[in-house]
Amino acid sequence: MEITGKSKIMFVLADPVDHVRASAILNSHFASIGEDIVTSPLHVRPQGLPAVIAAIRCMDNVVGFGVTIPHKVAVMPLLDDVTPNACAIGAVNFVKRTRDGRLIGDNMDAPGFIAALLKYQYTVAGKRVLQLGAGGAGRATALAIAQAGAAELQIANRDAEKAHALAEAIQALCPQAKVVASAEPAETFDLIVNTTSLGMKPGDELPVDISRIGTSTIVYDIVVNPAVTPLIEIARQRGARTIGGKAMLDEQMVLVADFIKQ
Ligand SMILES: NC(=O)c1ccc[n+]([C@@H]2O[C@H](COP(=O)([O-])OP(=O)(O)OC[C@H]3O[C@@H](n4cnc5c(N)ncnc54)[C@H](OP(=O)(O)O)[C@@H]3O)[C@@H](O)[C@H]2O)c1
Repeated sequence: MEITGKSKIMFVLADPVDHVRASAILNSHFASIGEDIVTSPLHVRPQGLPAVIAAIRCMDNVVGFGVTIPHKVAVMPLLDDVTPNACAIGAVNFVKRTRDGRLIGDNMDAPGFIAALLKYQYTVAGKRVLQLGAGGAGRATALAIAQAGAAELQIANRDAEKAHALAEAIQALCPQAKVVASAEPAETFDLIVNTTSLGMKPGDELPVDISRIGTSTIVYDIVVNPAVTPLIEIARQRGARTIGGKAMLDEQMVLVADFIKQ
């Protein structure tokens, strides 16, 4: 990769920064589609975020930047506009810098989640879905699942209050969907989505009782690293179809490339 004065620049703002993989995935995606855009992680602490955003406004060859933990919510008031999708999710994970320096935030988690399902020719419409987790990514996936026409979405979370609050919020945004918080649903589902961070560390417990996984269940684990989590491994052993988190991340990169060009 040759970076020249003609190259367009992107950043990924994070704290800590060591775990950031989106920059490498973006770089290989841009190279594969012949775009002269290069991305670098930037270690930005929370107190430095406003100054960094102000500086990026002055950098004419910067076309956009990703934001990850802990900046996804804090960046919102520092931008000029936020898409309705990002507003509904309550967080931004990519920002486009227009030619006149305006900063527009969007959230690619929800469309990336659905695009990966579609790539495998799996649909959500009419399906009974169990989502594990009610954190930042879980809010995006729950909205995506409800908007995609699931027959029912049950949300289970370690902190049950958060599951209730998320179910209520998604139900209010998508009145046509049936969204409930659920403690221990004793049944199988068409689609089980893990949005907890369980599976990232060796020795993590499984996020769900495996009896909920039937042979026709699709198990979608959004954890990116490791690529094959214990949940995915067990689901495969039980004959279920599986999708890992990299598929969702890859689809987000395609969406980012389109977003910054619009
Ligand atoms: N593939 C992708 O494109 C993509 C995109 C975004 C995120 N992710 C992945 O999604 C995962 C969650 O990210 P996030 O941003 O949503 O994090 P987050 O906001 O911190 O939420 C973490 C979620 O995991 C649950 N959790 C954490 N530790 C747990 C434990 N020991 N037992 C049970 N539940 C536990 C939390 O439950 P409590 O509410 O009870 O704490 C919460 O629901 C991470 O692995 C992240 O890398 C993937």
